[in-house]
Parts: sequence; structure tokens; C-alpha cells
Amino acid sequence: MYIDKMKISDFELIKNNLKSDFDDFWNENILKQELLNTDSIFLVVKDTISDEILGFAGIEIVLDEAELMNIVIRKNKRGLGIGKSLMEKIINIAKENNIKILKLEVNEKNLIAINLYKSFGFKQTGIREKYYNNHDSAILMDLEIFKH
Ligand SMILES: CC(C)(COP(=O)(O)OP(=O)(O)OC[C@H]1O[C@@H](n2cnc3c(N)ncnc32)[C@H](O)[C@@H]1OP(=O)(O)O)[C@@H](O)C(=O)NCCC(=O)NCCS
Repeated sequence: MYIDKMKISDFELIKNNLKSDFDDFWNENILKQELLNTDSIFLVVKDTISDEILGFAGIEIVLDEAELMNIVIRKNKRGLGIGKSLMEKIINIAKENNIKILKLEVNEKNLIAINLYKSFGFKQTGIREKYYNNHDSAILMDLEIFKH
């Protein structure tokens, strides 16, 4: 596999299958807007042989902070270490852009994602009660990238 900048042409290839192949909370219009936002950087993971899109992730940069907008691996390719590789690359990109804090929010029930973030050193900084559908809470997490 290899990781590249995500282009609109990549989005066009997956936009009709976002819910079935990636995750059911995706809204293609929001993803397209995020991708076109000049303050965001999106990466895509592809299979080296077939070029199939295996996952994608994006951050939005505001001054020296960045927010992880999403990270998602194709449903049938999870648990293979691809998310970890993508996260590693996202953190490197944040470093290259002199980001000091990488922030994210995650559903309290999404233990796989929470484990992934903790394994990279993200720390919980807060909680937004009943943030998702007025039911599940959002855990807010930060990764301090440079000491300051
Ligand atoms: C979260 C997600 C991106 C992880 O990607 P992945 O490729 O499946 O994860 P990896 O195989 O790289 O595993 C990375 C870490 O995640 C955690 N993890 C992965 N699978 C897990 C499982 N079944 N149970 C618990 N933790 C798990 C572990 O901490 C693992 O590290 P380890 O192998 O050193 O223990 C993926 O599951 C996904 O796309 N989920 C749906 C979208 C989503 O919820 N995104 C996050 C919020 S936007």
C-alpha cells in the first residue's frame, strides 16, 4: 500500500459507496467541502497493485493547531494496521506544518478509534455530553506535537 494526497478524482471514485464500503455516517457533500477547503490536508491509502482506495483521513489547520476531521478504513480492510500507518503519516504532516496540537473528537462508544488515538499518545481533554444524536457523548482528545 502507499499513502498519497487525496484528490477530487479519488473522492469521485468512492463517493457513491461511502456508506456501504467505509462508514454509515458519511455525507458525501460534507466530505467534498472538507476536501476542497484550502486549510485542509487529506490523505488517501491505496493498494499498490490495484490502486483500490483502502482508507482516507484529513486534518484542518488553523494557525498552529489542527483538527482531525476523519480517519476511516474500508470496512473489509480494518484491523490490518492500515489505520495506524495513516495516523502516523497524518502526525508527520502535522509536524511538517509546525502544528503544536492535533485535536479530535470521537464517540465515547468508538473504542477501536479511542485505542488507536491513545496508542499515539492522544490524551482526553474533555467530554461533550450527548453530542451525537443527542445520545452518545463525544470525547475530546489532544496530541501535543511540539513542546512549547
Ligand atoms: C478506527 C479505524 C480508522 C482504525 O483503523 P484500522 O486499520 O482498523 O486499525 P489498525 O489495524 O491500524 O489498528 C490500530 C489500533 O486500533 C486499535 N484497534 C484496531 N482494531 C481493534 C479492535 N478490534 N478492538 C480494539 N482496538 C482495536 C488498536 O489500538 C490498534 O493498535 P494495536 O494493533 O497496536 O493494538 C477503523 O476501525 C475505522 O475506519 N473505523 C470506522 C471509522 C471511524 O470510526 N473513524 C474514527 C472516527 S472519525
